[in-house]
Amino acid sequence: MTQMLKFDTVTARRIESAYTTADVVAQRREVLDLLALRPGETVVDIGAGPGFLAAEMAAAVGDSGRVYAVDPSESMRTLARGRVGVIDVRDGAADALPLPDASVDAAVTTQVLEYVADLPGALAELRRVLRPGGRVLILDTDWDSIVWHSRDDDRTRRVLAAWQDHLADPHLPRRLAGALDAAGFAVTPPRVIVLLNTGAARDTFSAGLVPLIADFVTGRCGLGADEVQAWADDVASLGDDTFFSLNRYVFLASAPA
Ligand SMILES: C[S@@+](CC[C@H](N)C(=O)[O-])C[C@H]1O[C@@H](n2cnc3c(N)ncnc32)[C@H](O)[C@@H]1O
Repeated sequence: MTQMLKFDTVTARRIESAYTTADVVAQRREVLDLLALRPGETVVDIGAGPGFLAAEMAAAVGDSGRVYAVDPSESMRTLARGRVGVIDVRDGAADALPLPDASVDAAVTTQVLEYVADLPGALAELRRVLRPGGRVLILDTDWDSIVWHSRDDDRTRRVLAAWQDHLADPHLPRRLAGALDAAGFAVTPPRVIVLLNTGAARDTFSAGLVPLIADFVTGRCGLGADEVQAWADDVASLGDDTFFSLNRYVFLASAPA
């Protein structure tokens, strides 16, 4: 397997910045609505990253509740510790959660399972830490869903093909319902959240994604630095003609009561 994206200090900061944009803020609001947390609940955010969602969940469960933010990246844990709100930030991974059996009412994992090679192992861990009847929300992208206008469609296709190597499964949503079912969860039909950026605004998810993609794909699949820079400059210079759309799929499931 080629090397996946590393969540080092630079990448962590870039992701933190991209996740402050209005489209990702709206995605978090929808995730929170779907989770419907109640005061006093205990919840874990697996692969919590910069900790924005964990902080918002801490406000929802209040002083009588508890939020664990688990992430294997020290850079991400440092960012999460800097968020406002009481979050218990812990080192760990989806297939090795630092939590006791049946200890959480709800679990959330957004943009994480697509990085995990052992999906059945991660879902078994989820079941282990959830209380009977506990609920889980999983959000992941199908990276084939990108529609990205550029002046050179062939170059954009090659850049995005190389970007698919940044994770373990760029098409995870297609098999997630079946995997949840096999792991013993009751699953409801998925929903889609569309991130859509059009027009000249630069404070957008797609603008934040460009440097992450450019760094990752340079030197891969025959893409040299000059060609990648030309792609990045092109999509950044489209102004009013900018068009970017990507689908994120949300799965709600519950553990047996
Ligand atoms: C794209 S970020 C998403 C962060 C956060 N969930 C969000 O949506 O804001 C992916 C995160 O998954 C974490 N991660 C990568 N592999 C993981 C694994 N095996 N188990 C748990 N987290 C992992 C990374 O360190 C990173 O923080």
